[in-house]
Amino acid sequence: MPSPKASSAPESLRFLTAAQVAAVRAQFGTPAYVYDQATLRRNAQACLAFPNAFGLTVRFAMKACPNAAILRFFESLGLHFDASSGWEAERALRAGIAPEKISLATQEMPENFAELHQRGIRFSACSLAQLDRFGRQFPGEKLGLRFNPGMGSGHSGKTNVGGPGSSFGIWHEWLEQVHALVSNHRLRVTKVHTHIGSGSDPAVWQRVANLTLGIAREFPNLDTVNLGGGFKVARVPGEKTTNLREVGATVKALFAERARESGQRLRLEIEPGTYLVALAGALVCTVQDAVSTGTQGYEFLKLDAGMTEILRPSLYGSQHAIVIVPATGRARTKKETKQYLVVGHCCESGDLLTPAPGAAETLSPRLLARAEVGDLCVIEGAGAYCAGMSAKNYNSFPEAPEVLIEENGKLRLIRRKQTLKQIVQNETR
Ligand code: LLP
Repeated sequence: MPSPKASSAPESLRFLTAAQVAAVRAQFGTPAYVYDQATLRRNAQACLAFPNAFGLTVRFAMKACPNAAILRFFESLGLHFDASSGWEAERALRAGIAPEKISLATQEMPENFAELHQRGIRFSACSLAQLDRFGRQFPGEKLGLRFNPGMGSGHSGKTNVGGPGSSFGIWHEWLEQVHALVSNHRLRVTKVHTHIGSGSDPAVWQRVANLTLGIAREFPNLDTVNLGGGFKVARVPGEKTTNLREVGATVKALFAERARESGQRLRLEIEPGTYLVALAGALVCTVQDAVSTGTQGYEFLKLDAGMTEILRPSLYGSQHAIVIVPATGRARTKKETKQYLVVGHCCESGDLLTPAPGAAETLSPRLLARAEVGDLCVIEGAGAYCAGMSAKNYNSFPEAPEVLIEENGKLRLIRRKQTLKQIVQNETR
């Protein structure tokens, strides 16, 4: 991963203006997640333009940002949804998403699986045991199968979900067992699914598309191939956003070739999470303290947020642009910069927002505009796996609110800040 330290100037705001940042704090307090509806729309349109030979379904991997307002907006644009647990599937239903637009591929089959299936949620079995369980309950019905195609790729070892070291999907060599279960239960396999990791190398993704089409050959009733998500986005300079048109063109050609060879005209599904939302979100926080460990040490900025709102730097050593926005009336010249370590508010040295790329424990000072206590601080690239994947309630910090900037510029609260009462509501006396 490239280091943002290499850049000679501080990062600037991506979709917010300094005035909007101040308005967010004035209206909702900090920390607050902010999403930009215009960027969400643009990203959805880019995904819907993914090259395909015989039709395309774009499923939003809702784990990336499961707020109902975001789900409903994406549904209005024509997106479908990938749920990774029974809870997630129900959450989408509660948001008003039509069941037939939700596909469940899960590590843990929910207890109420039968009910979800009967309501119309689509299912892809991710293991031989899941396939058997589905077949026993619903003989003769159709389903999808998620395979581990034998290789994977991710922005971190923690997000590579293919290859022999990964438990996700049915190992590609177990086709004999798959066929036996399918025929015992008279099932119809209509979809084959692979997802090899988040932040995957586009070249590996394309190779896996080919492997997946190889597996697809095994199933005569197949109408769809789902190639998962994993498309990278550039959160800091030096990172590279996947060119969807480029990776898609190769895949389209493979699908067309398959049709010429065997008459199999397969619909393509992709299920991006990151690509749709990562750069459409930011976390607005406040610099609440500044400490120094002397000339041999570091200058630290302490935020009123941290791993409780954005875990990715602590978990993966992920890089997020950080922008200081001087509090109103405290304008500074643009030239005043300083190297800072930015840390979160948790009592944990791992609550670090400026780790070295891919090395969560390594301190990597970042060049930022000179900051003062009380200034605002915006963490960019926080639309994916932040509000939905945090060390929630650690140190008893409440869950932060979520705000949507509508296309007309209005700020709309889409999740309220949690209260202390809500944090403890399920404790018994
Ligand atoms: N499909 C399946 C089956 C998945 O498991 C995932 C993500 C996706 C699609 C969407 O992948 P994306 O397009 O967002 O890369 N928490 C990590 C990423 C791990 C997500 C796990 N699965 C992160 O913060 O980058």
